[in-house]
Amino acid sequence: MQHLLNVDDLDHDFIFEIIDRARLIKRLRHGEEINRFWSDLSNLLTNRLMITMFFQPSTRTRLSFEAAMSYLGGKVIGTENAEEFSSFKKGASIEDEFRVISGYCDIIVGRFKNDGDALLAASKCEVPIINGGDGKGEHPTQALIDLFSIVEKFPSPEQLHISFVGDNRRSRTVHSLARLLAGFKNVGRMNFMSCPDLTVPLDFMQEIDQRSGRQIAALYAYVDDNLIHRSDVVYVTRSQDEHGGSVDNGLVFGPNYAAMMPENSIILHPLPRNSELPIAVDNDPRAYYFDQAHNGLYLRMALLEALCPRNRF
Ligand code: NCD
Repeated sequence: MQHLLNVDDLDHDFIFEIIDRARLIKRLRHGEEINRFWSDLSNLLTNRLMITMFFQPSTRTRLSFEAAMSYLGGKVIGTENAEEFSSFKKGASIEDEFRVISGYCDIIVGRFKNDGDALLAASKCEVPIINGGDGKGEHPTQALIDLFSIVEKFPSPEQLHISFVGDNRRSRTVHSLARLLAGFKNVGRMNFMSCPDLTVPLDFMQEIDQRSGRQIAALYAYVDDNLIHRSDVVYVTRSQDEHGGSVDNGLVFGPNYAAMMPENSIILHPLPRNSELPIAVDNDPRAYYFDQAHNGLYLRMALLEALCPRNRF
């Protein structure tokens, strides 16, 4: 049984197998072979059941996982407000809840309020658990979607220059993607740009440098025009107010910044967006965040195919 709790659970061969498969699934859905998308994939997980157990709101993660399982022929049950609608409300522990539901299904996708809850959930769980985001911790499947979106444009992440703009302190998507990219040889540079209250912790910067074996992480206050000029990818995030209170991050990545980026670059955002990414940026050819969100379906189909047990006996 293989849980996916953080990006360290992913090795490079597996990552590229999943991305290749997601690319194929996307091609089927968008090309003349749409019937193959509906037919060839539709019985890969017949009779398999996925439970989604979400302790925090979600649009993309929960619905794209549920759509992915449905397109693969599997079944889905779950609760989207587990804090209110499960026995957690009656004082049950995370460990007990996941131990119980693991007896009802073949795979679980969970989203959690606190860092480390995914690990607790997995501790007594008898089927694979996929972490759909835990507190300020990790969001490994979003990192895979982000990487898939990046390699669509830049087939090799070597020498990639990426700028993270926004809540780099509390965004689990930033933590997972930065860790994942740091594991690639020769990734170029990672610039972390935030207002002072949302700046990435120093020990995280050190961890990134350690993972890559070189000094690649650099910290900036607010948006640095010179670096935006040189960024292949700008990854914008909203202020994660549910994780430690409201902070007006004062950063707006508007069309003026988008226009500074190289022509062949992309702007990503895990969504939802607030005022940090005005809709006027949607018209810029570098805006790739809705494609990124849609990539979630293909990537999660590939992942479920790989992780959902086919033979249990
Ligand atoms: C992200 C999350 O939940 O961490 N959303 C998502 O899954 N696409 C980002 C966010 O909520 O800001």
